[in-house]
Amino acid sequence: MRLFLVTLTPLLGLFIWRSKYTFYYNILTKMELPDGYYYEGEVSSHCHPMNSAPNLSFKYCEDASFWDHYDADGKLEERRVVVSCDSGRREWNTVMGPLLDPTPRGSLWMYSPISGETTHLTLENFPAEHTFHPLGVEIYPSYSGNASYMYVVNHAANKTVIEQFRVSPSESVAKHIRTLSHPFFVASNALALTSPTSFYVTNDHVFTKRLPYVGAVLPMVETVLGIPLSFAGHVIINPDETDETAVLSHTVVAPFVAFSNGLSISPSGLELAIASTSIGTVYFYSRNTSTNALTFSTSVQLPFPPDNVKYDHYGNLVVSGHPHFPTLLQLVAGKVDIAPSWVVSISRIQGAVTAEYDLNAPLSTSTIVPSPANHTVQTLFQSNGKIFTSSTSGLIDTLSGNLYVTGLYAEDGAIICHP
Ligand SMILES: *[C@@H]1O[C@H](CO)[C@@H](O)[C@H](O)[C@H]1NC(C)=O
Ligand SMILES: *[C@@H]1O[C@H](CO)[C@@H](O)[C@H](O)[C@H]1NC(C)=O
Ligand SMILES: *[C@@H]1O[C@H](CO)[C@@H](O)[C@H](O)[C@H]1NC(C)=O
Ligand SMILES: *[C@@H]1O[C@H](CO)[C@@H](O)[C@H](O)[C@H]1NC(C)=O
Ligand SMILES: *[C@@H]1O[C@H](CO)[C@@H](O)[C@H](O)[C@H]1NC(C)=O
Repeated sequence: MRLFLVTLTPLLGLFIWRSKYTFYYNILTKMELPDGYYYEGEVSSHCHPMNSAPNLSFKYCEDASFWDHYDADGKLEERRVVVSCDSGRREWNTVMGPLLDPTPRGSLWMYSPISGETTHLTLENFPAEHTFHPLGVEIYPSYSGNASYMYVVNHAANKTVIEQFRVSPSESVAKHIRTLSHPFFVASNALALTSPTSFYVTNDHVFTKRLPYVGAVLPMVETVLGIPLSFAGHVIINPDETDETAVLSHTVVAPFVAFSNGLSISPSGLELAIASTSIGTVYFYSRNTSTNALTFSTSVQLPFPPDNVKYDHYGNLVVSGHPHFPTLLQLVAGKVDIAPSWVVSISRIQGAVTAEYDLNAPLSTSTIVPSPANHTVQTLFQSNGKIFTSSTSGLIDTLSGNLYVTGLYAEDGAIICHP
């Protein structure tokens, strides 16, 4: 016991030191945020719900990813957005609880900036008894109208799996191919594809809510203390859809991250970013494009615990997150209706770091955390929850200029802000 305490106390001290900004600004105190701020203009005239024909299933959306469509000459024609939502999240949330009823299925949606419409993707061939609670979703680009493989993390009733689908640009259908299982899909959260049949995947916790008895406490301890146990892996799957062995390999590529959440690959393929939610940091790795091995390069401290991260096509990293953790927990518990939102963009800069940056935002990042080395941070969207609640993903489409934001417990599901 004594040895245990002697080892544990400095370790806890270290964890708390690493989480000091998160502890102070996102747990102990509550920052003053505006009702709504959008960096390109008035929120009321520039932002609107993504689904203009409201559907009760289109709410509580976690992830969103681009689906790029290239023509025969390799020219980008359209950048659609696939969104994962779960209107039953109040009954089934394996990350934050509760685990009451896994039966009502979540849903997938496709937004087209050309038509301005959001359509529901019907699940086809999906096993009847199978439950569906989508989180991370990624879809391979479509070339000259061909179909794409789409992968979706599914926090199903019994365990977390990854579903493989095929989606054709001409139909609003997600055709189920197979369910991928692996002992290392402990608490899979976000995906980033490296080919039509390989991807990186994060696991947000090692101790999950699903564990008997300790599941009520250990995941919270892992989160609040920022214990670096979670990890990201690289997975290669069998290109033969009919082969019994679906997962060919799983390699741990980024071990010992505290609450690894979103991840994304830069447009050049040479960099990968992972959000470490519980210590309010984004880690950057350089990526070996032939082996998919990662080497840690640098980290950027943020004024909020980041959730999902997505590179835009210029190589800026858009990060969305939860500025006040206790309010988010109350929202999950149904004790409040809204929790704050914050979306920023992290860009690489050359030369001297400026002490003051992000000056247009009502609450500037630079008043909270120190200037990051070789990077700068710009606020894209901010809300105390009144205009938009519990932001989980933010995407910037460099083609249309649109900013998309999804909300974990947003009744509107997701919003679009256009310049
Ligand atoms: C609403 O979404 C559900 C999918 O969850 C779908 O079955 C239903 O047809 C949609 N309703 C309308 C009016 O689009
Ligand atoms: C679509 O075409 C691309 C480029 O040729 C290819 O990589 C991808 O595997 C194709 N998609 C499917 C589902 O076959
Ligand atoms: C889930 O677990 C239950 C009870 O252990 C079992 O009866 C059921 O077949 C499992 N379902 C799936 C889809 O694996
Ligand atoms: C990628 O890994 C391979 C095998 O270890 C190595 O030969 C190659 O030099 C690496 N590439 C880079 C850019 O580091
Ligand atoms: C910032 O960039 C310079 C020049 O590339 C490099 O020497 C330095 O190590 C970088 N700092 C950090 C903390 O990454």
